[in-house]
Amino acid sequence: MTEIQQTRRKKRIFSGMQPSGEAHLGNYLGALRRWVSMQDEYDCVWCIVDDHAITSGGDPVDMPSSVFDLAVSFLAVGLDPERSIIFVQSDVHEHTELAWLFNAVTPVGDLERMTQYKDKAQHFESIPAGILNYPILQAADILLYKADAVPVGEDQRQHLELTREVARKFNARYGETFPITEPLIGEDVGRILGLDGDTKMSKSLGNTVGILAEPDAVWDRVRTAVTDPQRVRREDPGRPEVCNVFSLHRFFTDENARTDIDAGCRSAELGCVDCKRILSDNIEISFAPYRERAAHYRAHPNEVGYVLDQGAERARTIASETMEEVRHKMGLQWRNALL
Ligand code: TYM
Repeated sequence: MTEIQQTRRKKRIFSGMQPSGEAHLGNYLGALRRWVSMQDEYDCVWCIVDDHAITSGGDPVDMPSSVFDLAVSFLAVGLDPERSIIFVQSDVHEHTELAWLFNAVTPVGDLERMTQYKDKAQHFESIPAGILNYPILQAADILLYKADAVPVGEDQRQHLELTREVARKFNARYGETFPITEPLIGEDVGRILGLDGDTKMSKSLGNTVGILAEPDAVWDRVRTAVTDPQRVRREDPGRPEVCNVFSLHRFFTDENARTDIDAGCRSAELGCVDCKRILSDNIEISFAPYRERAAHYRAHPNEVGYVLDQGAERARTIASETMEEVRHKMGLQWRNALL
């Protein structure tokens, strides 16, 4: 039995993250934290999706360091190359090839309905096709590995629905090939709001806290966080239930301390700056081991390169097997058929 067949006894999961530098709290709480805990139960494939990231129009000069910083974040939080495949999407060309082939079974109407597409499209006078086709590449990522399930945050639900539809359409037209992948949505976390307390935490919105930031940098970010908008003066009582800073305490501060913060905020004994200071300190403490491990990988970039090279090789083995099958089913092997 080959290595691939053996590991196939476990269910396979695939997930991806766009490289926009080091991971932020939203990435960590919505995705990475869960990914780390899934590595024993599942056969895991984790991907840094740089082919997706080019659709955001960033400066190509920044891409290599963004990929590297995200790889460092993956390893620092505990994604483990011994147990998981960790690789960069553009190192495995089968992703873009399968995405092209999926164009044959994906209705444009389905793509135009995606809310992320509608949001992003507003920012362009002339909309790049990559923004529309983005979820086809996401479907290719997942189905290339015939993933049984995909752990993602709530914001990706609609894209996974499209992946399922692509698989159904492909199977109906070319014969049973792909699983109908299940979404594993982290219901307990939902959408982590950015420091503006209003929009999703996202690097492109500049409202993030990096998980590998040095203590001073964490405080510089956290102190800017928006709290209860009705609490204008220090002596005004606050409402923890509407405060984003309080909601972040849920992940970093123990229950007793949270009860005290809640009471102190409501009675105005505790000011917003004090509350943010506690949060910032607790974030620093929680992430201290990650910062240490990240420092090691930054000092040894070749170790990161080795992990990604090995990961790409293992990914390619699976991907090329799927592509053989797909090309055959789609009639794209004229030589085999005729000669
Ligand atoms: P991306 O890079 O935006 O986010 C990666 C993961 O982090 C989660 N996440 C969040 N969760 C809660 N609150 C937030 N503020 C927050 N920000 C990010 C996301 O839900 C996601 O799980 N299209 C995908 C990348 C992708 C992919 C894939 C995912 C490409 N191919 C295949 C799964 C399977 C994206 O842009 O994620």
